Amino acid sequence: MATRRNFLLGGSSAAAAALLLAACGGEGAGSTGGGAGGGGGEVDPADLTVGVAMPTQTYERWVADGNNIKKGLEDKGFTVDMQYADDDIPTQQQQIDQMVSNGVAALLIASIDGASLSAQLDAAAAANIPVIAYDRLLTDNENVSFYVTFDNYKVGVNQANALLFGLGLLDENFEEAADAPAGPLNIELFAGSLDDNNAHLFWQGAIDTLTPYIDAGTIAVPSGQMDIEQAATQRWEQETAQKRMENLLTTHYNGGEELHGVLAPADPLSRGIINALQNAGLGPTLSEGLPVVTGQDAEIASIKLIADDVQHSTIFKDTRNLAEQAIVATEAFLNGSEPEANDTETYDNGVKVVPSYLLEVQMVLASNYEEIMVDSGYYTQEQVDSGQL
Ligand code: GAL
Repeated sequence: MATRRNFLLGGSSAAAAALLLAACGGEGAGSTGGGAGGGGGEVDPADLTVGVAMPTQTYERWVADGNNIKKGLEDKGFTVDMQYADDDIPTQQQQIDQMVSNGVAALLIASIDGASLSAQLDAAAAANIPVIAYDRLLTDNENVSFYVTFDNYKVGVNQANALLFGLGLLDENFEEAADAPAGPLNIELFAGSLDDNNAHLFWQGAIDTLTPYIDAGTIAVPSGQMDIEQAATQRWEQETAQKRMENLLTTHYNGGEELHGVLAPADPLSRGIINALQNAGLGPTLSEGLPVVTGQDAEIASIKLIADDVQHSTIFKDTRNLAEQAIVATEAFLNGSEPEANDTETYDNGVKVVPSYLLEVQMVLASNYEEIMVDSGYYTQEQVDSGQL
């Protein structure tokens, strides 16, 4: 994209009309000669506010996403109204209501519950405000203009492959290991929050990958808790995952049964699970028998645990690129055009298939965390050593 520049208005798209309205501070479409079907006019991004609704600051990634989006938009001259909702749905609804009534030019929304914002999406549509779902799909409503995210199914596939590698069933090329143990190897499964569409895709990618091993008897799930409803972690809370792990250990591993691995869908949950395992006397490191635990988000505390031979893996999603993509999409709408999608099939939100732009993810292990996380400049070695940003 070009750097700072004026946006050319014109054409007949609703987005352009919205832009014009916002730019004119409510004077009405047509006052600069633009508007639906109008000739065109120029506005400065500084006259436009982009509303950014974020779920929570308890997960490191959302803080990074927010910072990156805000800076990226401001660098282009936009004004940004960014709000975090403390994982409270009514708070997020109010924040978005406010943004709509303040006349933002576009909305970027990372929802708490993807299905809970219908009234807000309808209000945005009525005001011709384009809505971009950020990382989490907005569901059960047609007024979602675009979706930027990572390949969420592949996140799950990668988590399962990392687990299979850690269990010795796959080799370092992720082929069937020549010296694979016969099993059965015992694992337990954790999922994210059921109201987050991503949780279902992570789960599906992982389960599709693990099922052949479960069917073959190489892997077993001693608790028998193999439905996403049983494995779910409401609101992605670390404490909840830790408690469930503690319960699983006392209920299903009290007679000397060995636990070999845990599918964990996000780093804070991984750390809660690891706490429960270590408190039960396992490990404390992988070399000393700690079960293999997966992760997601490459949070600094988990990268340190990977460096320290405690957490086995995580999935790195470069939120800098996601923020950039969200800004590209925002600019496209504000220019009266459509952002480029690279997936127009996967993300059916229950009412329509939302055109999407998916980014790739990377698996992070002890063998490559330096290259992926440090050499790339994402974290410094000092941050990894201290486990803090
Ligand atoms: C998901 C997101 C993950 C993780 C999780 C918990 O929607 O894609 O990266 O952060 O929420 O916040």
